[in-house]
Amino acid sequence: MIDIDKITKRYGDTTVVDDVSLTIPRGGVVGIVGPNGAGKSTLLSMVSRLIKANSGTVRVDGLDVTAAPGRELARRLSVMRQENYVAARLTVRDLVAFGRFPHNRGRPTREDTERVATAIAFVGLDGMADRFLDQLSGGQRQRAFVAMTLAQDADYALFDEPLNNLDIHHAVSMMRLFRRMGDQPGKTVVIVLHDLNIAATYADRIIVMQDGRVVGDGAPSEVINRRLLAEVFRVEGDIVEVDGRRLVSVAP
Ligand SMILES: Nc1ncnc2c1ncn2[C@@H]1O[C@H](COP(=O)(O)OP(=O)(O)O)[C@@H](O)[C@H]1O
Ligand SMILES: [Mg+2]
Repeated sequence: MIDIDKITKRYGDTTVVDDVSLTIPRGGVVGIVGPNGAGKSTLLSMVSRLIKANSGTVRVDGLDVTAAPGRELARRLSVMRQENYVAARLTVRDLVAFGRFPHNRGRPTREDTERVATAIAFVGLDGMADRFLDQLSGGQRQRAFVAMTLAQDADYALFDEPLNNLDIHHAVSMMRLFRRMGDQPGKTVVIVLHDLNIAATYADRIIVMQDGRVVGDGAPSEVINRRLLAEVFRVEGDIVEVDGRRLVSVAP
């Protein structure tokens, strides 16, 4: 379980994550949605201790993330950030192999090599494994980062807008991949998503953030409604039901 207890982040006088408490039990796919600037990335960064909270705690299976040894945390929790800056002169295979570092401290075994190859194949980049990252399209590079996170094989995998730059085919394949991950025993996937319909289609639970707070939390059918569109996303639209799923149709 990820247990987020009263976490707050301020920059100067501005509170960007405001006293958020959430529990994310093991298993399944959780989508986090909300307008730009709602605090989604900041929340994910505090959970994965990339940034420090002003107050509050995060525990992953009881382990306080700020106190845990790096390797131990990395075996439990992985994160793919929204922005990734890396040396361009790195191949896909090198990048993905970083995901195995918490397991092997830089001395890859045959199992590590196999897991790296499997992760690359999962995202459809086999055949491009020896290309440098700057020889890839934005979407291919995005998939390479997802493969690195997969290779880490943590129990909790967090992805911040992993569908950026992906065409609809690759977006759907990636969501199916996340769905399969979340269906594996003991694995939990948390994804920040822009597209409400994608969230409604693949997530078991949707958490809505606005102005640093959680303003909605539940099954897609409970969370996605006209009020959410109007008050949180500031668009007019209708909710249509397709195969029992509530989907958003925005007014032109
Ligand atoms: N390093 C920073 N310094 C100052 N303000 C920041 C910093 N990082 C993020 N913010 C602000 O915090 C708010 C939340 O940002 P973010 O978590 O990235 O939102 P989201 O991911 O939901 O779009 C935004 O208003 C953003 O401008
Ligand atoms: Mg963000």
